[in-house]
Amino acid sequence: MAFPQQFLDELMARSDIVDVVGSFVPLISKGGSYWGCCPFHSEKTPSFHVLPDKQIYYCFGCKKGGGVVNFIMEEENLTYPDAIRFLGKRAGMEVPEEEGDREASRRRQRLLDLNRDAARFYYQLLQQPEGRAVQAYLDKRQIKKSTAVKFGMGASLDSWDTLLNAMTKKGYTKSELLAAGLIVQNKNGGFYDKFRNRLMLPVIDTRGDVVAFGSRVLDKSEPKYMNSSETQVYSKRRVLYGLNLAKKTKRPNIILCEGNLDIVTLHQAGFDNAVASMGTALTVEQTRLLSRFTKELVLCYDNDNAGRIATERALQILYNSEFSVKVLQLPRRLVDGEYVKQDADDFIKFQGPDAFERLLTGSENGIEFRMAQVAGKYDLNSDEARVAYCEEISNLLSSLPNAVEREIYSARAAELAKITPEAMKLEVQRAFKRRMAREKRAELRKDLNPAAQLQPKERSLRYENLRSARAEEGVLRLLMMDDSLFPDEEPPLKEEDFSSPLLGRAFTLLWAAHREGRPMSPGLLSDALDAEEASHIAAICQQPESSQNAQRALADYIHIVKTEADKRAGKGMDPLLAATEKYKDKKGTGGKQYG
Ligand code: CTP
Ligand code: MN
Repeated sequence: MAFPQQFLDELMARSDIVDVVGSFVPLISKGGSYWGCCPFHSEKTPSFHVLPDKQIYYCFGCKKGGGVVNFIMEEENLTYPDAIRFLGKRAGMEVPEEEGDREASRRRQRLLDLNRDAARFYYQLLQQPEGRAVQAYLDKRQIKKSTAVKFGMGASLDSWDTLLNAMTKKGYTKSELLAAGLIVQNKNGGFYDKFRNRLMLPVIDTRGDVVAFGSRVLDKSEPKYMNSSETQVYSKRRVLYGLNLAKKTKRPNIILCEGNLDIVTLHQAGFDNAVASMGTALTVEQTRLLSRFTKELVLCYDNDNAGRIATERALQILYNSEFSVKVLQLPRRLVDGEYVKQDADDFIKFQGPDAFERLLTGSENGIEFRMAQVAGKYDLNSDEARVAYCEEISNLLSSLPNAVEREIYSARAAELAKITPEAMKLEVQRAFKRRMAREKRAELRKDLNPAAQLQPKERSLRYENLRSARAEEGVLRLLMMDDSLFPDEEPPLKEEDFSSPLLGRAFTLLWAAHREGRPMSPGLLSDALDAEEASHIAAICQQPESSQNAQRALADYIHIVKTEADKRAGKGMDPLLAATEKYKDKKGTGGKQYG
């Protein structure tokens, strides 16, 4: 995986971070650096900062950061070598390959081929007499042949090795079948098909690759749904069932449901804009994927408690995003005098597509959904409950950033609580002021407590000695800013002098580059650090460091790091004092931080 250094240096020189990032994110230049809306979390106001002089990016919102290679890894969901290849291609450079890399990408392609062949095989079984049981199930659920074909549905048989044998015959090995999650190994070392006697639902990504399978039993047995485990080609956080089809829709929005068969029924009924997260909560990665195809989402989760929780969670993820979000609430259905839960599939079956179209047109926005949730908690006929309702609803409405929205929904809430709109407006205004004051205090606390800000976000990276770590950060910043401040052959600090293992490691890597006279940049570290580590280093680098008195600052930093290192080693101290220091360390009070 090691690319020649000369190639990497040239690639970095040709991959300016502003050019590369700018081709994904619109950037606005402001005083020598650039700002944009972060592509890694949903936001409306720019907190994504790109610094050309340091060749790094850093998002103040989600705290992701790094060099140009980290950006491509994150944005395109690529490994380090693949990100290098991506940039190489972009820069029009020939990328030197090693045998091992070719091997990895060949294996990946093999898995995709295997998935496709397996999907074809299941598909053919469904058309044959052996597929009768699954065919009957499709009939029972009123899934038409043309719909089944569109989704590439198939049948797995009531047998332990049908797929295993067929794929082995095609030349795939057991280890490939295992890696694709299509077979399972038992305790005695034997292998058997993972999916048996099921309706098979291939999961196809937006590129058209079969990356995994979902499947459903034909009767009431458990587990009802069984999906592929995560593999080299499948990360469930990054895929939505049905998006391969929904991305072509002419409708203005995309509907998000819980279940695979909800999607199938919706597409069949003409709602070709439906996708499912397959039983898991909506992820940020999925919203990023969606943002390529639409700016409007409609949440259509089941109308039970789990569905409401999922809706609330999705609204939180989408809060302040560039999406406009609506909630389509399915009504419950009356069966034998009792209301039962209904999902999109049930609703279409019982009420028909037109009724669904009406719900879709009339669907509420997120705040309306939340208001209804709050109202549902109170019996508004009692005065006491009305007071409590007003308090909770004004708090909710105060979270709306837009004054017009606050006013409109306050009036609506007032009507429900049977109070005057003026009284409600006043309440909301008060709550809004309280909220502002709270936020301001929190900001202030943060400013007053730089130590808390300084701590890495990631727990495993927490500093044990803040005084030293702060100085260590300064050394790294100066080294990257101007390595002529470090004229010597020998490094001023050894890796062990660093109290933070990460900062020590970064220093060693950068020093090696410095000694060889290569350009300093955090991009040099992309291969050696994981995403959290790279983000932390970027966070450090984007902090300002004055170039005046840099020499003096460097000497101070080095002095602090050395003194703290000596303390740790128990040197240069009264032996008695050193002993108590050590003791303190053991008790976790000597600057050691747990938490
Ligand atoms: N799911 C899953 N594993 C389970 C149960 C559910 O992965 N054991 C996922 C499936 O993607 C399923 C979705 O969660 O489609 C919703 O599950 P559920 O509401 O239980 O089922 P329905 O979609 O209503 O399924 P059906 O109509 O087929 O009974
Ligand atoms: Mn269902």
